Amino acid sequence: MNAERFRDVMASFPSGVVVLTAFGHDSQPRGLTVSAFCAVSLEPPLALACIDKTSNTLPAVEHTGGFTANILAAGREQLARRMATKVTDKFDSIRWRRPNSPIGGPILEEDAAAYAVCTLRDTIEAGDHWVLVGLVTEGDHREGVAPMIFSRRGYHGLND
Ligand SMILES: Cc1cc2nc3c(=O)[nH]c(=O)nc-3n(C[C@H](O)[C@H](O)[C@H](O)COP(=O)(O)O)c2cc1C
Repeated sequence: MNAERFRDVMASFPSGVVVLTAFGHDSQPRGLTVSAFCAVSLEPPLALACIDKTSNTLPAVEHTGGFTANILAAGREQLARRMATKVTDKFDSIRWRRPNSPIGGPILEEDAAAYAVCTLRDTIEAGDHWVLVGLVTEGDHREGVAPMIFSRRGYHGLND
């Protein structure tokens, strides 16, 4: 199947939108927008994300030994678009906090409907991506805050 048809097929599977974050060697926050995120196991609690091998965030995930999956709230399209660029100042004027766990990335509490702090368990090579499997050590969700939905290349709220 050609790449365009593959993209069209996969774009018809709606997902949430995650900003996956970690800390670089310089202790500064790094991150990218990800739709390839899902639960893997309940016992132990495992989740996975698929990250392009060219991602500038990958060295930060390795350095951190984990990552945080920030599940964006509806209406955060601007943030999703910014985190999907390669600019170096992505986190300027974005509020974040450190997780309680010693391993994990920045938590974007005000922009997330929920978050999961993960310790990296496995890194599996799959085509042009890495599958990052994380043990979820910490997380929370904000009651009443609707998550963002990404479907057919558009951002939606639950009532759209
Ligand atoms: C809605 C959306 C979903 C995306 N999903 C993924 C994904 O699952 N995995 C991935 O590697 N990149 C994904 N991207 C692309 C990255 O966000 C983009 O390549 C980003 O610039 C990478 O930044 P970095 O190199 O600083 O890590 C997605 C982009 C958008 C807008």
